[in-house]
Amino acid sequence: MATGKPDVLFVNPLYNYPLEEVAGIFENHKYWEADDKDALLASLSSTCRAAVTRSTFSSEMMDKLPNLGIIAVCGVGYDGVDDEAARQRGIAVTNTPDVLTEDVADYALALLLAVARLIPQGERYLREGRWKREGPMRYGRRVHGGKLGVLGLGRIGSSLARRCEALSMRIGYHNRNQREDVAYQYFDSAEALALWSDFLVVVTPGGDSTLRLVNAEVLDALGPDGILINVGRGSTVDDAALAAALSEGRIAGAGLDVFVDEPNVPEAFLGLEDKLVLQPHQASATHDTRRAMSRLCIDNVSAFLDGRELLSPVP
Ligand code: NAP
Ligand code: 8YV
Repeated sequence: MATGKPDVLFVNPLYNYPLEEVAGIFENHKYWEADDKDALLASLSSTCRAAVTRSTFSSEMMDKLPNLGIIAVCGVGYDGVDDEAARQRGIAVTNTPDVLTEDVADYALALLLAVARLIPQGERYLREGRWKREGPMRYGRRVHGGKLGVLGLGRIGSSLARRCEALSMRIGYHNRNQREDVAYQYFDSAEALALWSDFLVVVTPGGDSTLRLVNAEVLDALGPDGILINVGRGSTVDDAALAAALSEGRIAGAGLDVFVDEPNVPEAFLGLEDKLVLQPHQASATHDTRRAMSRLCIDNVSAFLDGRELLSPVP
């Protein structure tokens, strides 16, 4: 029965935001709950103008919704959406920048400290009774005063750099474009940055331009005392090269929040718990930020449906 409310397809539930809150303004369609997903798309093909996703939206789905005008991504990274296919079809894509920046920067710093100062290892050492049996555990690496290499000095990378300035760290970075507005040292490649860095933190977007940018050469440049942190996208790091560099002692440690095929984690990583800290893609996961991301996503959909300017279209 037609309700007069616009049809909106939700590929996944929103974070911290029950869809009942928008039930008065949208006719919500829950793709993730549909037993027959093709039938749901077919039933919406002539009416659905807006879709919301937390990660992926394929060109095949766009083809099944020919009147789609917006894909609102609940996340700043939109590498899961075929944005070129969207552009060709005249579909706007929005994301959720800024609202998550500070939490992700906090988390990147926490992961860096956790890896360098062996925090998860210390917890295990104590719980396993080894402190009592074997005495003090091995030492970690000093962070304050060290050299932080930011691969991707954008919103989150800059926010992390500001935190690390407070730890008296020197900051270097690599972007494709050197920034005129910061005094940090610029390096014209990921490898040159890694060679200089004590700690290399990846905060680049996913996609073709960063695919396995952190490869064996970059890890060797980081060196046997170096630590790698990735809060960007799993695809930016060559997993096999990382597992080899860790197990052969060619880098000292790593902390990963993101993986190529989430929630699957490469088998080779699971046995490296002395050197590798693994997290289930949590960098933006606070109640406040996840709520703000969902709100911005919904506000973009409302703006589109009302014919207003979008709040955060992707470039
Ligand atoms: P942003 O402001 O767009 O910053 C991205 C930076 O990466 C820019 O400085 C950009 O500079 C650089 N960059 C892009 N492509 C590059 C390449 N091929 N080589 C070298 N540098 C490159 O984005 P942001 O808001 O900081 O977010 C960054 C990414 O973090 C997101 O896209 C997402 O993948 C990830 N993220 C992860 C989580 C999490 O939960 N773990 C949460 C939020 C975000 P140039 O354009 O000059 O190269
Ligand atoms: C999201 C993220 O939680 O914003 C991003 O790019 O990686 C995280 O904040 C993730 O995209 C799932 O929506």
